[in-house]
Amino acid sequence: MSSCLVCCGELIPFLDLGMQPSANRFLTKKNLNDEEYKYSLRVGLCSNCTMIQTLERPRKEEMFNDDYAYFTSSNAPMVNHFQEYAERVKSNFLNKSSVVVEVGSNDGVFLRHFSDYKHLGFEPSANVAEIAREKGVNCVCEFFNIENALRELESFGKADFVFIANVIGHVEELTIILQGVKACLSDKGQFVFEIYYLPEMLKRGTFDLIYDEHIFYYTLLNFNITLNRYGLELFDVEFIPVHGGSIRGYVSHLDAYEKSETLLKRIEEERSKGLDTIAPLNKFAVKVAKIKDDLSSLVVGLKQQGHKIAGYGATAKSTTLLNYCDLTNNEIDYVVDSTPFKQGKYTPGSHIPILPEDEFTNNPPDYTILFAWNYQDAIMKKQEGYSGKWIFIHPEVKAI
Ligand code: SAH
Ligand code: TMP
Ligand code: ZN
Repeated sequence: MSSCLVCCGELIPFLDLGMQPSANRFLTKKNLNDEEYKYSLRVGLCSNCTMIQTLERPRKEEMFNDDYAYFTSSNAPMVNHFQEYAERVKSNFLNKSSVVVEVGSNDGVFLRHFSDYKHLGFEPSANVAEIAREKGVNCVCEFFNIENALRELESFGKADFVFIANVIGHVEELTIILQGVKACLSDKGQFVFEIYYLPEMLKRGTFDLIYDEHIFYYTLLNFNITLNRYGLELFDVEFIPVHGGSIRGYVSHLDAYEKSETLLKRIEEERSKGLDTIAPLNKFAVKVAKIKDDLSSLVVGLKQQGHKIAGYGATAKSTTLLNYCDLTNNEIDYVVDSTPFKQGKYTPGSHIPILPEDEFTNNPPDYTILFAWNYQDAIMKKQEGYSGKWIFIHPEVKAI
């Protein structure tokens, strides 16, 4: 049994999502018949530090390499989200000599707004890093750690603002990242993270946010304990609507800032809901099993009646959903996705062809499962004229 990645404590398993392929390993027609790498997707709670994490993790190079399929800029709502936040940081916090660092800067979606600041991104996936460079973003193509942080910042000085969005869930070496941040953050520097928020996942039943790249699942309670181990602490939090309910947490060196009322109140709320115990997690597992039963029987039944069924968005989330619910190309005719890199390929494990969004308008299915539920508003607006039915998954499966 694996132990906690942060404190080596014992992990108590509460959810088993079965054997899964790597979520973003889309297949080409040529390698469709090759044997796919699979791992057992289970999640547990650390009995010591309360960090929630997967029990078996694929090697990081298996996920983040020169063939990485997630380009943040393919998602217009995320482009707007990061632009708005970049403008806010520039006008409220930074001055012209500030040093800005981003860990997991992807295709430069956030850092491109800081081209006239001393800025630096750390991004190990070479293909996305290259796109960032084309936008004029300074970028080191390496996994972030204390050594490269200090080496690269030697000429800049310490960082006033370190941003990390949707990465602290992804990293087996969370502790290495926190050591790096601690070492390179200026005295009054702010370390700001964005991450899907576990209490929202429990409330909505969004278990498909669990896949190989997402190793850790955060509450304010559990992350603050981990931050404290590295001489860091939360001082504020905001709730943001992205990825189905996320938090933007503000972190500093110990006692550098006064803690906000909102933060203290939210931490208390988490405590009163027992979010540092196994009980709500066991309840979540029951909810997840029901979604599986309901979705499988709905989709299999519709197929038997001869309906054409599609998926919207070849998301990493849909890999978990499809493989856990045993749905394949036998039930689902195609999935549409706006990312050119994914089009013409096949979904991992379930082998459903991925087509451009035109297919949806030109050849509309009778039923469509909304896999990209985090972009529901944008997609509903774009596909206003669709006359078939949508299948929504959370918090309960329903066809409308
Ligand atoms: N920040 C973007 C991208 C998130 S996807 C957004 O919010 O949309 C996660 C990114 O983190 C990927 O681009 C991946 O290559 C990168 N990454 C993974 N491990 C990392 C590490 N140890 N250091 C820096 N970046 C990492
Ligand atoms: P994500 O949930 O992992 O960010 O992936 C969302 C996927 O949804 C991504 O591959 C792009 C796709 N998408 C569309 O196909 N059409 C859209 O309008 C939007 C917003 C996203
Ligand atoms: Zn632990």
